[in-house]
Amino acid sequence: MYDFTGRNVVITGGAGGIGEACAKAFAGAGASVFLLDWSQASLDAAMERLAGAGTVRPMQIDVTDRPALDAVFDEIAAAGGTDVLVATAAIVKTGLILDFEPDTWSRILDVNLTGTFHCAQLAGRQMVAKGRGRIVTVSSVNGQIANTGRGAYSCTKGGVDMLTRLLAAELGDKGITANAVAPVPVDTPMVLQVHGPKDRALWEAQIPAKRYARPEEVADAVQFLASDRAGYINGHILNVDGGFMASGVLLR
Ligand SMILES: NC(=O)c1ccc[n+]([C@@H]2O[C@H](COP(=O)([O-])OP(=O)(O)OC[C@H]3O[C@@H](n4cnc5c(N)ncnc54)[C@H](O)[C@@H]3O)[C@@H](O)[C@H]2O)c1
Repeated sequence: MYDFTGRNVVITGGAGGIGEACAKAFAGAGASVFLLDWSQASLDAAMERLAGAGTVRPMQIDVTDRPALDAVFDEIAAAGGTDVLVATAAIVKTGLILDFEPDTWSRILDVNLTGTFHCAQLAGRQMVAKGRGRIVTVSSVNGQIANTGRGAYSCTKGGVDMLTRLLAAELGDKGITANAVAPVPVDTPMVLQVHGPKDRALWEAQIPAKRYARPEEVADAVQFLASDRAGYINGHILNVDGGFMASGVLLR
């Protein structure tokens, strides 16, 4: 459906559920994919699953490590520079605000918000030099509404939404767009980590679609926003949520 032949697509958190689905979609559409993730074991496993999907290059990196990121983006520059950045790398830890561990708070901000800033800045500079580019951040509906117990995670996603709008505003005259996708729960390793059966039942009762999203459904939205067809969509937060943010009490 889309043709990304000749485009370099950088995916942070690329060995995770949504990142890997994005990698598969972009590689299948002809892109050269750079898969950035801090977990070598996850990268190895993702590369096995992605065998035959297309051109995918794994790069082990922590998005909070700026000097290492500078070196990685230099390598990407040598390969032609970033055409598309998909920023998915994030961590989550649930907890009520009054109980939240300050060090955990700081680490989540570092990875989810500051890590996204580092990658967007480095990729954005390459895009300015090329005169075109697409930045797609993977946010969450938790960035827009206060679901209890989401603590630092929700605050980082609200920050990612604003970072995305700032990028859109500052780079919009340079052939670059910046948009976010904001999913409800998606069936990935991250969700398995924080949702037990009770959480799942609660969420599914509140989502008009009555189910979690699939990683491929998020990747579809990301690919659209990264495509030439979305050239005049800039600064948008696209909810991929089965109708969750549109609905109130679901009487049956
Ligand atoms: N799964 C969901 O329910 C859901 C819902 C809404 C939004 N999201 C967002 O989607 C994105 C992807 O989530 P996912 O569900 O695929 O999670 P995941 O945990 O499966 O994948 C995240 C990946 O990021 C990597 N990562 C974490 N910290 C990193 C760091 N410092 N440097 C580099 N890589 C790092 C992890 O190793 C992992 O492979 C995240 O931004 C998440 O907040 C997920």
